[in-house]
Amino acid sequence: MQHQLVTINVNGDEYTRVVKANTLLVNFLRDELDLTGTKKGCELGDCGSCTILLDGKPVNSCLILALDADGKKVTTIEGVSDTDQLSVVQEKFVEYGAIQCGYCAPGMIMSATALLAENPKPTAEEVRAGISGNLCRCTGYINIIKAIMAASGQEIPN
Ligand code: FES
Ligand code: FES
Repeated sequence: MQHQLVTINVNGDEYTRVVKANTLLVNFLRDELDLTGTKKGCELGDCGSCTILLDGKPVNSCLILALDADGKKVTTIEGVSDTDQLSVVQEKFVEYGAIQCGYCAPGMIMSATALLAENPKPTAEEVRAGISGNLCRCTGYINIIKAIMAASGQEIPN
């Protein structure tokens, strides 16, 4: 297997590593950098649990090679807040009970963060569309949608 040097900015820090050409970005983050907040579910692009931001856009890191992120900027759940406090989206997920087993939460929060960066006052429908690639087997989604709306300063009725 061919090896190659990559330099990826992850959560503001530059990491240069030699990787196998077929190393998936999700495995690079989890195994090489120990950033295990990004979860692996289906590894087929179906569940969204591996969602990260690549140059600000939400992507499934199980569908991307580490080589494809060379020279790019990755944000994972570990870097979603600029401070040592939770981000507003994270806070609202906790407050609204949008986390049960929690397996979907990192990916869900990354998608929600990207959505609000592009569209600070989404409608509930736009929130649904924004997280449509993220599956949750526990919550029934309504508390997740409420949490994201609350993070945008909006309430939706019960
Ligand atoms: S693990 Fe990547 S989409 Fe399911
Ligand atoms: S909280 Fe369990 S999968 Fe979403």
